[in-house]
Amino acid sequence: MRRTALVTGGTRGLGKAICISLQAAGHQVAAVYHKNTDAARTFAEASSIPVFRWDVADFEACRTGIAQVERELGPVDILVNNAGISSDTVLHRMTPEQWWRVINTNLGSMFNMSRNVVEGMRERGFGRIVNISSVNGQKGQFGQTNYAAAKAGILGFTKALALEGARKNVTVNAITPGYCDTDMVAAVPNEVMQAIIASIPIGRLGTPADIGRMVAFLADDDAGFITGATIAVNGGQYMA
Ligand code: CAA
Repeated sequence: MRRTALVTGGTRGLGKAICISLQAAGHQVAAVYHKNTDAARTFAEASSIPVFRWDVADFEACRTGIAQVERELGPVDILVNNAGISSDTVLHRMTPEQWWRVINTNLGSMFNMSRNVVEGMRERGFGRIVNISSVNGQKGQFGQTNYAAAKAGILGFTKALALEGARKNVTVNAITPGYCDTDMVAAVPNEVMQAIIASIPIGRLGTPADIGRMVAFLADDDAGFITGATIAVNGGQYMA
């Protein structure tokens, strides 16, 4: 069935591929972006997917942004909480600003976005929420106490909300992508990157489409018996 999907961080990287996969599955898709207007414009022109601009770390911005999307496109049936940032450094050099910016964007956004769609999903008796965590939320990563904490937090959030939504046909799942070919991963120092690729049994980085396909699968009407799951898409790098 054709549903309406909203993807945060949807104009670049993993989010862009997620939007394309959901569109290919026949859904009406909208993408949220924050800062990179040029990338958003290019994406919107190439895909015909409408883009909306707000900061997912800001509850009020999410409330008014989602209301606008729903006025223009109808109720959100599928929410993909994908937007995320990193600010890597060892804890003994991390500033409070680095800590809170990553926590508020990557974990705070789970509340800010989900809170503003979940009541409608419950009333309509259908909802799919897919949260993008990370392999580093499962295994930890040197230089990422902030990011790993937020990504691990997403897993608990997912399981608790899955329990609350189950009776209303609102499923909530998390994907833990491994290292994929995105701008975020490209920023990792080359030496570190070589070691990381060597630690991936499949022997390559993931592609954004690898993640997009899994999101589209979980978002499908037929995936209704899958909820509260943590699904690894990481080339075998970490087997929880
Ligand atoms: N394990 C143990 N020790 C390590 C280490 C590791 N993984 N990485 C670095 N070190 C050690 C170094 O050997 C060095 O030790 P010495 O001083 O004794 O030589 C010390 O730590 C400092 O290392 P650096 O010089 O690299 O320190 P830095 O402050 O310049 O950089 C860093 C530290 C920012 C963490 C950098 O190493 C880095 O960027 N690492 C990559 C982090 C990473 O993987 N981020 C993932 C981004 S992608 C993403 O997040 C998407 C996703 O979900 C998968």
